[in-house]
Amino acid sequence: MILKNCVGLITGASQGLGKAFAEALLKKEAKVVICDINHAQGVATKAEFDQGYGPDRTAFIPCDVTSLSQMKDVFCETLQMFGRLDVLCNNAGINNENSWKKTISVNLVALIQASYLALDHMRCDRGGQGGSIVNIASMSGFIPAAHCPVYTASKHGVLGFTRSLAEASRFGNYGIRINALCPSFVNTPILDTINHEENLGNFYQFKDSVKDSINIFGVLEPSVIAEGFIQLLEDDSLNGAVMKITTTKGVHFENY
Ligand SMILES: NC(=O)c1ccc[n+]([C@@H]2O[C@H](COP(=O)([O-])OP(=O)(O)OC[C@H]3O[C@@H](n4cnc5c(N)ncnc54)[C@H](O)[C@@H]3O)[C@@H](O)[C@H]2O)c1
Repeated sequence: MILKNCVGLITGASQGLGKAFAEALLKKEAKVVICDINHAQGVATKAEFDQGYGPDRTAFIPCDVTSLSQMKDVFCETLQMFGRLDVLCNNAGINNENSWKKTISVNLVALIQASYLALDHMRCDRGGQGGSIVNIASMSGFIPAAHCPVYTASKHGVLGFTRSLAEASRFGNYGIRINALCPSFVNTPILDTINHEENLGNFYQFKDSVKDSINIFGVLEPSVIAEGFIQLLEDDSLNGAVMKITTTKGVHFENY
Protein backbone atom coordinates (compact mmCIF):
# COMPACT_ATOMS: atom_id res chain seq x y z
CA MET A 1 0.00 0.00 0.00
CA ILE A 2 1.29 3.43 -0.91
CA LEU A 3 0.48 5.64 2.06
CA LYS A 4 0.79 9.05 0.41
CA ASN A 5 -2.70 10.69 0.46
CA CYS A 6 -4.26 7.62 2.09
CA VAL A 7 -6.70 8.26 4.93
CA GLY A 8 -6.16 6.45 8.24
CA LEU A 9 -8.49 6.29 11.22
CA ILE A 10 -6.76 5.51 14.50
CA THR A 11 -8.64 4.89 17.74
CA GLY A 12 -7.15 6.07 21.03
CA ALA A 13 -4.66 8.25 19.17
CA SER A 14 -4.56 11.36 21.33
CA GLN A 15 -1.51 10.02 23.19
CA GLY A 16 0.83 7.05 23.50
CA LEU A 17 1.13 4.50 20.73
CA GLY A 18 -1.85 5.77 18.74
CA LYS A 19 -0.31 9.23 18.56
CA ALA A 20 2.97 7.70 17.32
CA PHE A 21 1.07 5.73 14.66
CA ALA A 22 -0.76 8.90 13.56
CA GLU A 23 2.49 10.84 13.29
CA ALA A 24 4.12 8.01 11.32
CA LEU A 25 1.24 8.18 8.81
CA LEU A 26 1.56 11.98 8.58
CA LYS A 27 5.27 11.59 7.85
CA LYS A 28 4.24 9.37 4.92
CA GLU A 29 1.99 12.25 3.71
CA ALA A 30 -1.21 10.41 4.60
CA LYS A 31 -4.20 12.07 6.28
CA VAL A 32 -5.23 11.01 9.76
CA VAL A 33 -8.37 10.91 11.85
CA ILE A 34 -7.68 10.67 15.55
CA CYS A 35 -10.60 9.44 17.61
CA ASP A 36 -10.32 9.30 21.38
CA ILE A 37 -12.40 9.61 24.52
CA ASN A 38 -9.88 12.11 25.95
CA HIS A 39 -11.14 15.38 24.46
CA ALA A 40 -8.50 17.76 25.85
CA GLN A 41 -5.58 15.58 24.81
CA GLY A 42 -7.11 14.98 21.38
CA VAL A 43 -7.45 18.72 20.76
CA ALA A 44 -3.84 19.27 21.89
CA THR A 45 -2.50 16.50 19.65
CA LYS A 46 -4.41 17.81 16.63
CA ALA A 47 -3.00 21.31 17.27
CA GLU A 48 0.53 19.86 17.49
CA PHE A 49 0.08 17.94 14.23
CA ASP A 50 -1.52 20.94 12.48
CA GLN A 51 1.62 22.91 13.24
CA GLY A 52 3.99 20.18 12.12
CA TYR A 53 2.16 18.80 9.09
CA GLY A 54 -0.38 21.42 7.97
CA PRO A 55 -3.94 22.15 9.15
CA ASP A 56 -5.79 20.06 6.58
CA ARG A 57 -4.19 16.69 7.27
CA THR A 58 -5.41 15.76 10.76
CA ALA A 59 -8.89 15.61 12.24
CA PHE A 60 -9.84 14.90 15.83
CA ILE A 61 -13.22 13.32 16.53
CA PRO A 62 -14.04 12.77 20.20
CA CYS A 63 -15.69 9.41 20.76
CA ASP A 64 -16.05 6.41 23.00
CA VAL A 65 -15.12 3.36 20.92
CA THR A 66 -17.59 1.22 22.84
CA SER A 67 -20.53 3.27 21.50
CA LEU A 68 -21.87 1.92 18.19
CA SER A 69 -23.67 5.16 17.31
CA GLN A 70 -20.60 7.30 18.04
CA MET A 71 -18.38 5.02 15.96
CA LYS A 72 -20.85 5.05 13.06
CA ASP A 73 -20.64 8.86 13.20
CA VAL A 74 -16.82 8.72 13.22
CA PHE A 75 -16.81 6.69 9.99
CA CYS A 76 -19.37 9.01 8.36
CA GLU A 77 -17.48 12.17 9.39
CA THR A 78 -14.21 10.67 8.14
CA LEU A 79 -15.73 10.09 4.72
CA GLN A 80 -17.34 13.55 4.71
CA MET A 81 -14.06 15.26 5.59
CA PHE A 82 -11.55 13.28 3.57
CA GLY A 83 -13.68 11.42 0.99
CA ARG A 84 -12.15 8.00 1.59
CA LEU A 85 -10.91 5.54 4.21
CA ASP A 86 -7.94 3.25 3.58
CA VAL A 87 -6.61 2.31 7.01
CA LEU A 88 -8.20 1.48 10.35
CA CYS A 89 -5.96 1.01 13.37
CA ASN A 90 -7.80 -0.40 16.38
CA ASN A 91 -5.48 0.91 19.06
CA ALA A 92 -7.62 2.19 21.96
CA GLY A 93 -7.06 0.04 25.03
CA ILE A 94 -7.24 0.03 28.81
CA ASN A 95 -5.83 -2.12 31.59
CA ASN A 96 -8.39 -2.34 34.37
CA GLU A 97 -8.98 -5.61 36.18
CA ASN A 98 -11.47 -3.97 38.59
CA SER A 99 -13.70 -2.92 35.69
CA TRP A 100 -12.96 -6.11 33.83
CA LYS A 101 -16.09 -6.10 31.67
CA LYS A 102 -15.13 -2.61 30.50
CA THR A 103 -11.66 -3.90 29.64
CA ILE A 104 -13.19 -6.57 27.40
CA SER A 105 -15.58 -3.95 25.94
CA VAL A 106 -12.83 -1.51 24.98
CA ASN A 107 -10.02 -3.91 24.06
CA LEU A 108 -12.00 -6.57 22.23
CA VAL A 109 -15.71 -5.83 21.64
CA ALA A 110 -15.09 -2.29 20.35
CA LEU A 111 -12.22 -3.53 18.16
CA ILE A 112 -14.56 -6.08 16.56
CA GLN A 113 -17.27 -3.43 16.16
CA ALA A 114 -14.94 -0.94 14.43
CA SER A 115 -13.51 -3.68 12.21
CA TYR A 116 -17.01 -4.55 10.98
CA LEU A 117 -17.80 -0.87 10.32
CA ALA A 118 -14.55 -0.61 8.34
CA LEU A 119 -15.44 -3.72 6.32
CA ASP A 120 -18.78 -2.10 5.41
CA HIS A 121 -16.89 0.83 3.88
CA MET A 122 -13.86 -0.96 2.43
CA ARG A 123 -14.92 -4.36 1.07
CA CYS A 124 -14.09 -4.65 -2.64
CA ASP A 125 -16.73 -7.36 -3.11
CA ARG A 126 -19.36 -4.84 -1.91
CA GLY A 127 -18.24 -1.85 -4.00
CA GLY A 128 -15.50 -0.52 -1.68
CA GLN A 129 -11.88 0.21 -2.57
CA GLY A 130 -10.16 -2.23 -0.19
CA GLY A 131 -7.83 -1.24 2.61
CA SER A 132 -5.90 -2.38 5.62
CA ILE A 133 -6.75 -2.98 9.29
CA VAL A 134 -4.12 -3.14 12.02
CA ASN A 135 -5.25 -4.42 15.40
CA ILE A 136 -3.09 -3.59 18.39
CA ALA A 137 -2.70 -6.66 20.58
CA SER A 138 0.30 -7.18 22.89
CA MET A 139 2.82 -9.79 23.99
CA SER A 140 0.00 -10.46 26.48
CA GLY A 141 -1.66 -12.13 23.49
CA PHE A 142 0.75 -15.06 24.00
CA ILE A 143 1.86 -15.27 27.60
CA PRO A 144 0.01 -15.53 30.92
CA ALA A 145 0.17 -12.57 33.32
CA ALA A 146 -0.90 -12.95 36.96
CA HIS A 147 -1.41 -9.20 37.39
CA CYS A 148 -3.93 -8.83 34.53
CA PRO A 149 -5.89 -11.97 33.54
CA VAL A 150 -8.68 -10.10 31.74
CA TYR A 151 -6.38 -7.74 29.82
CA THR A 152 -4.49 -10.89 28.77
CA ALA A 153 -7.73 -12.59 27.70
CA SER A 154 -8.70 -9.53 25.65
CA LYS A 155 -5.39 -9.55 23.79
CA HIS A 156 -5.57 -13.32 23.14
CA GLY A 157 -9.03 -12.58 21.71
CA VAL A 158 -7.66 -9.84 19.44
CA LEU A 159 -5.25 -12.32 17.87
CA GLY A 160 -7.90 -14.99 17.28
CA PHE A 161 -10.29 -12.46 15.77
CA THR A 162 -7.62 -10.84 13.58
CA ARG A 163 -6.33 -14.12 12.16
CA SER A 164 -9.85 -15.43 11.52
CA LEU A 165 -11.11 -12.23 9.88
CA ALA A 166 -7.99 -12.23 7.70
CA GLU A 167 -8.93 -15.74 6.52
CA ALA A 168 -12.49 -14.56 5.80
CA SER A 169 -11.09 -11.64 3.82
CA ARG A 170 -8.87 -13.99 1.81
CA PHE A 171 -11.67 -16.48 1.10
CA GLY A 172 -14.25 -13.75 0.43
CA ASN A 173 -12.01 -11.53 -1.71
CA TYR A 174 -12.69 -8.52 0.54
CA GLY A 175 -9.52 -6.80 -0.69
CA ILE A 176 -8.66 -5.93 2.89
CA ARG A 177 -5.52 -7.01 4.73
CA ILE A 178 -5.99 -7.54 8.46
CA ASN A 179 -2.94 -7.89 10.69
CA ALA A 180 -2.03 -7.68 14.38
CA LEU A 181 0.79 -5.88 16.15
CA CYS A 182 2.07 -7.16 19.49
CA PRO A 183 4.43 -4.81 21.30
CA SER A 184 6.31 -5.71 24.45
CA PHE A 185 6.46 -2.99 27.15
CA VAL A 186 6.30 0.52 25.67
CA ASN A 187 6.89 3.89 27.30
CA THR A 188 3.28 5.20 27.40
CA PRO A 189 0.85 6.16 30.22
CA ILE A 190 -0.77 2.69 30.28
CA LEU A 191 2.38 1.25 31.88
CA ASP A 192 1.64 3.24 35.03
CA THR A 193 -1.60 1.26 35.57
CA ILE A 194 0.44 -1.52 37.21
CA ASN A 195 1.24 0.84 40.10
CA HIS A 196 -2.39 1.31 41.11
CA GLU A 197 -4.63 -1.03 43.07
CA GLU A 198 -7.66 0.68 41.51
CA ASN A 199 -6.51 -0.77 38.15
CA LEU A 200 -5.25 -4.21 39.17
CA GLY A 201 -7.82 -4.94 41.89
CA ASN A 202 -7.33 -8.41 43.40
CA PHE A 203 -4.20 -8.93 41.31
CA TYR A 204 -2.34 -5.88 42.66
CA GLN A 205 -0.40 -8.25 44.93
CA PHE A 206 1.30 -9.66 41.81
CA LYS A 207 2.52 -6.29 40.51
CA ASP A 208 6.15 -7.05 41.43
CA SER A 209 6.28 -9.93 38.94
CA VAL A 210 5.50 -7.56 36.06
CA LYS A 211 7.96 -4.98 37.40
CA ASP A 212 10.63 -7.73 37.38
CA SER A 213 9.73 -8.48 33.73
CA ILE A 214 10.01 -4.79 32.83
CA ASN A 215 13.45 -4.68 34.44
CA ILE A 216 14.57 -7.78 32.54
CA PHE A 217 13.07 -7.00 29.12
CA GLY A 218 13.23 -3.18 29.14
CA VAL A 219 10.85 -0.62 27.69
CA LEU A 220 10.55 0.32 24.02
CA GLU A 221 9.82 3.79 22.63
CA PRO A 222 6.53 4.33 20.69
CA SER A 223 8.47 5.40 17.56
CA VAL A 224 9.95 1.88 17.30
CA ILE A 225 6.47 0.33 17.36
CA ALA A 226 5.32 2.88 14.75
CA GLU A 227 8.00 1.56 12.36
CA GLY A 228 6.43 -1.91 12.64
CA PHE A 229 2.98 -0.39 12.10
CA ILE A 230 4.12 1.22 8.84
CA GLN A 231 5.69 -2.07 7.72
CA LEU A 232 2.36 -3.87 8.23
CA LEU A 233 0.64 -1.26 6.07
CA GLU A 234 3.22 -1.02 3.29
CA ASP A 235 3.88 -4.74 2.80
CA ASP A 236 0.99 -5.94 0.61
CA SER A 237 1.97 -9.59 1.15
CA LEU A 238 0.91 -9.50 4.81
CA ASN A 239 -2.56 -10.70 5.79
CA GLY A 240 -3.30 -12.51 9.06
CA ALA A 241 0.24 -11.76 10.19
CA VAL A 242 1.08 -11.35 13.86
CA MET A 243 4.02 -8.99 14.29
CA LYS A 244 5.86 -8.95 17.60
CA ILE A 245 8.23 -6.20 18.70
CA THR A 246 10.55 -6.78 21.65
CA THR A 247 13.78 -5.27 22.93
CA THR A 248 15.66 -8.53 22.43
CA LYS A 249 14.47 -9.50 18.93
CA GLY A 250 13.16 -6.23 17.45
CA VAL A 251 10.49 -6.68 14.76
CA HIS A 252 9.65 -10.33 14.09
CA PHE A 253 6.62 -12.48 13.32
CA GLU A 254 4.90 -15.31 15.18
CA ASN A 255 5.08 -18.60 13.27
CA TYR A 256 1.95 -20.57 14.05
N1 LIG B 1 2.32 0.62 26.38
C1 LIG B 1 2.52 -0.69 26.39
O1 LIG B 1 3.39 -1.20 27.12
C2 LIG B 1 1.69 -1.58 25.49
C3 LIG B 1 2.18 -2.86 25.20
C4 LIG B 1 1.42 -3.69 24.39
C5 LIG B 1 0.22 -3.25 23.88
N2 LIG B 1 -0.24 -2.01 24.18
C6 LIG B 1 -1.53 -1.61 23.62
O2 LIG B 1 -1.35 -0.44 22.85
C7 LIG B 1 -2.58 0.26 22.76
C8 LIG B 1 -2.34 1.73 23.05
O3 LIG B 1 -1.98 1.86 24.41
P1 LIG B 1 -0.93 2.93 24.93
O4 LIG B 1 0.22 2.17 25.44
O5 LIG B 1 -0.71 3.98 23.93
O6 LIG B 1 -1.74 3.48 26.20
P2 LIG B 1 -2.37 4.91 26.50
O7 LIG B 1 -3.13 4.73 27.76
O8 LIG B 1 -1.31 5.94 26.42
O9 LIG B 1 -3.36 5.17 25.27
C9 LIG B 1 -4.62 4.58 25.15
C10 LIG B 1 -5.55 5.58 24.49
O10 LIG B 1 -6.83 4.98 24.32
C11 LIG B 1 -7.82 5.95 24.66
N3 LIG B 1 -9.05 5.28 25.08
C12 LIG B 1 -9.25 4.53 26.18
N4 LIG B 1 -10.53 4.13 26.24
C13 LIG B 1 -11.16 4.64 25.16
C14 LIG B 1 -12.49 4.58 24.68
N5 LIG B 1 -13.46 3.92 25.34
N6 LIG B 1 -12.79 5.23 23.53
C15 LIG B 1 -11.84 5.92 22.85
N7 LIG B 1 -10.56 6.02 23.27
C16 LIG B 1 -10.22 5.39 24.41
C17 LIG B 1 -7.18 6.74 25.82
O11 LIG B 1 -7.82 7.99 26.03
C18 LIG B 1 -5.76 6.86 25.31
O12 LIG B 1 -5.57 8.00 24.52
C19 LIG B 1 -3.53 -0.43 23.74
O13 LIG B 1 -4.40 -1.30 23.02
C20 LIG B 1 -2.60 -1.23 24.62
O14 LIG B 1 -3.23 -2.36 25.18
C21 LIG B 1 0.47 -1.16 24.98
